Amino acid sequence: MDKQEKSIERSILFVDDEPRVLSGLERMLRPMRHVWTMSFARSGREALDLLKERHFDAVVTDIRMPVMNGLELLSEVKRLYPDTVRIILSGESDREMTLKAVNVSHQFLNKPCNTETLKDAITRVGNLSLLLQKDSIKAMVSKMDSLPSLPSLYMEIMQEIQSKDSSIKKIGDIIGRDLAMTAKILQLVNSSYFSLPRHISSPEQAVFLLGLDTIKSLVLSIQLFSRFKLKNMTEDYLKRLWDHSMNTAQSSKRIAGQEKQEQVVIDNSFMAGLLHDSGKLVMASCFGEQYGELVSSVKDNGFIAKKEKEIFDVTHAEAGAYLMGLWGLPHSIIEAIAFHHTPGRSMTGHFTPLTAVYIADILEQEKSGPFTDKSELEIDYEYLSAMELRSSYPFPDRMGSDVLGEVMAYGG
Ligand SMILES: [Fe+2]
Ligand SMILES: [Fe+2]
Repeated sequence: MDKQEKSIERSILFVDDEPRVLSGLERMLRPMRHVWTMSFARSGREALDLLKERHFDAVVTDIRMPVMNGLELLSEVKRLYPDTVRIILSGESDREMTLKAVNVSHQFLNKPCNTETLKDAITRVGNLSLLLQKDSIKAMVSKMDSLPSLPSLYMEIMQEIQSKDSSIKKIGDIIGRDLAMTAKILQLVNSSYFSLPRHISSPEQAVFLLGLDTIKSLVLSIQLFSRFKLKNMTEDYLKRLWDHSMNTAQSSKRIAGQEKQEQVVIDNSFMAGLLHDSGKLVMASCFGEQYGELVSSVKDNGFIAKKEKEIFDVTHAEAGAYLMGLWGLPHSIIEAIAFHHTPGRSMTGHFTPLTAVYIADILEQEKSGPFTDKSELEIDYEYLSAMELRSSYPFPDRMGSDVLGEVMAYGG
């Protein structure tokens, strides 16, 4: 993927009221001038004028600025140019401001920020464009602040948060049973919004770190979570999607452990397993009733991706990876989400969370009965062989081919 990505030029707009900061950024990012077209604005107004003239792939702005602050600027960008990626680069420590930033920005970077971090964040969001070619879909997905939660769990969390003696443990339990809330919480702890330690993979741990007050404000004042409007999608289907996601997460973690991977790969495999099908919620939000119809007419994951492509020109793997990428989740997780049906498209030639999720998803689909239509499950044995797996896995012998024997031979 890399070579192709580097040749694509990106246009980035940096906004800061302090000329010193802007010239510092310009100097620091000089080596990137061959790959990025960079523009610099000293106020929100100036930024909006530039945006009127031409398209920018990303806007990177400070928060505290006179007249129009960074949050006001980004909410205008969100309204007028939804497919432009919104990044905050700020030394802001005001809690109220930071809470508001969650809703208008995709990512939050702390000042001072080193060149690598900034380059990395911008390059990654730029590369996401390759996942979704259609601007209309990009705009729809970029506008999403949250994924829809199960109505019953949404009610439960609202009640718990509003109750006088709400407990962080109970809140963590509820969030840990909902795919949408889990995704949002993982975004917050994996970014710099609240300056928490990184690499947290369990939603319960994340909630605990954020603390009761922050969670309460996020849920009540900025509506961090949203409620699912069930359009042709039953609550039962969504519960099964959650069970499938949690089982895939646990088995991905086990597989990464069995393959003697480092702790960060094991944690990210769990998180990637949890989020691998989050694109189904993205699709449900974007395409409503029509997606509900598709879901109720087909049951298998692999099969559903083909249908999604035919009807909507985007799969849940692409849509999910795009949104989670915009939200700044680690690259290996995005890769796992994007290629969980087509691992051969990944350019990484060694074990990654994608490998764990791919194997786990197949094994889970084999077990999960009504959630799958086994005959449609195609297994990429070539990819699995290339990963030189240490353990053997009970893959279905559907192909009856020698390749399966080869994969199994790595066992032990
Ligand atoms: Fe899937
Ligand atoms: Fe799946």
